[in-house]
Amino acid sequence: MILRNLILAAGCLAAVSAVTAKEPSRVYLDPEAPLEQRVEDALSRMTTEEKIAVIHAQSKFSSRGVPRLGIPDVWTSDGPHGVRPEVFWDDWNQAGFTNDSCVAFPALTALAATWDPALSLLYGNVIGEEARYRGKDILLGPGVNIYRTPLNGRNFEYMGEDPYLASVMVVPYINGVQQNGVAACLKHYALNNNEINRHTSNVHVSDRALREIYLPAFKAAVDSGLWTIMGAYNLYQDEHLCHNKRTLNDILKGEWGFDGAVVSDWGGCHDTPQAIANGLDMEFGSWTNGLTSGLANAYDNYYLAQPYLKLIKEGKVGTAELDDKVRRVLRTIFRTAMSPVGGYGSFLSPEHYEAARRIGSDAIVLLQNNGSLLPLDSAAGKKILVVGENAIKMMTVGGGSSQLKVQREVSPLDGIRAAAGNNAVAYARGYKSEVRGDQDGLPAQDISDPRSDKELADEAVAMARDVDVVIFVGGLNKNPHNDCEDSDRPDITLPYGQDSLIAEIAKVNPNIVMVNISGNAVAMPWIKEVPAVMQAWYLGSEAGNSIADIIFGKVNPSGRLPFTFPVRLADTPAAAFGEKAYPGIKREDSDIYDIDYTEGVLVGYRWYGTKKIKPLFPFGYGLSYTTFEYGPMTASAKEMDADGEITFTIPVTNTGSREGAETVQFYVSDQKASVERPAKELKGFEKIVLAPGETKTVTFTVRKPDLSFYDEAKAAWVAEPGRFTVTAAPSAGAKGRSATFTLK
Ligand code: BGC
Repeated sequence: MILRNLILAAGCLAAVSAVTAKEPSRVYLDPEAPLEQRVEDALSRMTTEEKIAVIHAQSKFSSRGVPRLGIPDVWTSDGPHGVRPEVFWDDWNQAGFTNDSCVAFPALTALAATWDPALSLLYGNVIGEEARYRGKDILLGPGVNIYRTPLNGRNFEYMGEDPYLASVMVVPYINGVQQNGVAACLKHYALNNNEINRHTSNVHVSDRALREIYLPAFKAAVDSGLWTIMGAYNLYQDEHLCHNKRTLNDILKGEWGFDGAVVSDWGGCHDTPQAIANGLDMEFGSWTNGLTSGLANAYDNYYLAQPYLKLIKEGKVGTAELDDKVRRVLRTIFRTAMSPVGGYGSFLSPEHYEAARRIGSDAIVLLQNNGSLLPLDSAAGKKILVVGENAIKMMTVGGGSSQLKVQREVSPLDGIRAAAGNNAVAYARGYKSEVRGDQDGLPAQDISDPRSDKELADEAVAMARDVDVVIFVGGLNKNPHNDCEDSDRPDITLPYGQDSLIAEIAKVNPNIVMVNISGNAVAMPWIKEVPAVMQAWYLGSEAGNSIADIIFGKVNPSGRLPFTFPVRLADTPAAAFGEKAYPGIKREDSDIYDIDYTEGVLVGYRWYGTKKIKPLFPFGYGLSYTTFEYGPMTASAKEMDADGEITFTIPVTNTGSREGAETVQFYVSDQKASVERPAKELKGFEKIVLAPGETKTVTFTVRKPDLSFYDEAKAAWVAEPGRFTVTAAPSAGAKGRSATFTLK
């Protein structure tokens, strides 16, 4: 026996040395070797066919590695609010695994509303851990398309209307994800600001608006070390953004030096020569039906598959572009699946739920609290009536590709009941939305109700008469034409008759709290009749607990709006210029819609402030259960050289009786310029926690880039000498405290 083992061991050793003798140094397998050496080594060993294989999908969400060389496949997953369930090889339907129910985190608008970069890092890390555990190499998120119109059905997936806020908030998310050895895939690059006609909208935008509004968050992410980026569906300069020379070759890879992979949106690639030449590196989702259309394997027929190989074989294109694409894919694999960094991840941990709850409650924005109706006292022994479908509706299913299969989702009603203490909580539905079936195989929640709209409303109004407080949980949902991919909203009013129902309830019971759940601004025609209003977003698995934390005062609200709430749609910038600005005008000879971003740089509060239109609630706005006072602002100098800086200091005091967080925002205004500049622009902010009576000083240092605009003629950033004002304020709509200085 011992002899036999010895012979076997000797045989094994011989086999091992035979392999190592043939290939003494497979550098690409060495995790300690420099990345570029690994890339060049692997590239030099690959055949042209193997190179073609790694630049397009092999299934709905994966692309092939190099099996012969032991280089693994690439597995992607949505993103951005949780890790999507496993789907079938060839279609969108979830495959019915039993171990893929995730934690859903708050939607990205909610994350932006925390104005807290530390929470963004926490978010990125926990979702990165979930992705790593599930074996995902690329997480399809986050998204940073700027909120241009409140009608965009996908605003809930993005980080609001301001490029500075979006930049500051997106970078930590990406770092958090990537520290787990999972690539973030920033989307949708770029100018993808509506869902209607999303494959056929051709954007016309000034270079100035492109540089000042639509690109900064993407650039900040690239500068911070982003690994992958997703092209958008629509067109710019008549080229689809998944293979767009200007945005991908010239700006992203040229100017910004991005060394990672450009991933197409699913079905966003349309042309082989353009995809070869214009910077696309990985093609996904071109056909949704993988096995019954196209060639024997439909993936072979992708634009960057056999058609590309054929052009190479016929000598019609060279291989320089191919090698560049493959290098980028290899970098991605070595940074993720073949990286020793990141460990094994973790899934469904209590820490992940805790992070979801904390981010959720810190995101909620208290918009109105007349008579200090909130917080409610859990020991008061009062009668509470919860009204509204959103109190019981699951919000993680629906909405498009960001939908999730969750281990649990605490509804607002359950969260309120759990926190209500000795208050009695009754429920009335009040209204109902359209019934939807399964979503990509995720079973629909059955909340169908046979009663008529009138019966539901009458019941709610009748029950509201006899209670101490009514909590109306309404807003939008994840159905088409609400907050949902692939469709826009028809207007900004609340659907399903909620406006009249809220007004009716307010008539019989003035103690009404409106909890608005949406990822978008809504009109509030009843605002004078409803004393307390909270903006509660889509908060994921812990939604109900986060909401209850605010209602019962366990958490002092500190969220601030990442976008303006207008009074009416007609007040919004894109609406002011008619159809050509949104949703665009259809060309006579094709199905392309030309959209003209006529408002230029006047997006969001830049529009309302400059045009002096009073919004319902301004950007940056949010109340607390305590109050804050801003002291006088001091400046370190009154004049500044072009390469100099001035530091502004302001004391902020908590003048109320409980601890709370204030977000001090710094806006810069150019008093006179050769171009039209927005009335003010956010250039800094800090969230501080203050005990009752405590004062902290907050500082902001202004430098030339904070004063510059993008000069189209010079194709450069320019700060014109003259007077500037810096304002520290609790929102874009508040007067705050200011100081002026001169740029020499
Ligand atoms: C969406 C992307 C998503 C992809 C994969 C597309 O329809 O636009 O955001 O990542 O599908 O699900």
